[in-house]
Amino acid sequence: MERNFTLQEIRELAGECWKVVKDRKVIAFHGEMGAGKTTLIHALCDEKGVKDVVGSPTFSLVNEYKYDCNGTSRPLFHLDLYRLKDEEEAVRAGMEELLFSGEICLVEWPEKAPGIFPENTVHVYITLAEGGARRIKITDY
Ligand SMILES: Nc1ncnc2c1ncn2[C@@H]1O[C@H](COP(=O)(O)OP(=O)(O)O)[C@@H](O)[C@H]1O
Ligand SMILES: [Mg+2]
Repeated sequence: MERNFTLQEIRELAGECWKVVKDRKVIAFHGEMGAGKTTLIHALCDEKGVKDVVGSPTFSLVNEYKYDCNGTSRPLFHLDLYRLKDEEEAVRAGMEELLFSGEICLVEWPEKAPGIFPENTVHVYITLAEGGARRIKITDY
């Protein structure tokens, strides 16, 4: 999937993203600082019905949210690997455990520890487009 989107269209785009992702659990968000990774992750959380979306985990590494999955409350993890140096640090911080937990993980700065991601990770690339909009590309690699 590849398309441009504005902030006005982000909620609708988020719905489209979940359809593309289907039942895969780990989504890696690539894009430079200010590309719109956190903003899109919040829209994806809103679309999942998360009630308590707060800020960016940049200072906390992980934010844990809850969403309703067929009547059961399940965790959804928002990870930001920006402050980590490499795979070793990420593993020590417990990131690999979360990525293989079977719960939904939305991850910023996956390039900090590319080796710890499950094989079926969905990769989302966000870049700047014309007029302040953004371009999104979703791939399997
Ligand atoms: N689709 C979009 N269109 C226009 N502006 C956007 C879009 N997505 C995000 N922004 C803006 O870009 C800025 C940075 O977004 P942010 O999500 O914090 O980026 P990142 O997490 O990639 O560093 C914010 O001011 C946000 O409002
Ligand atoms: Mg961010």
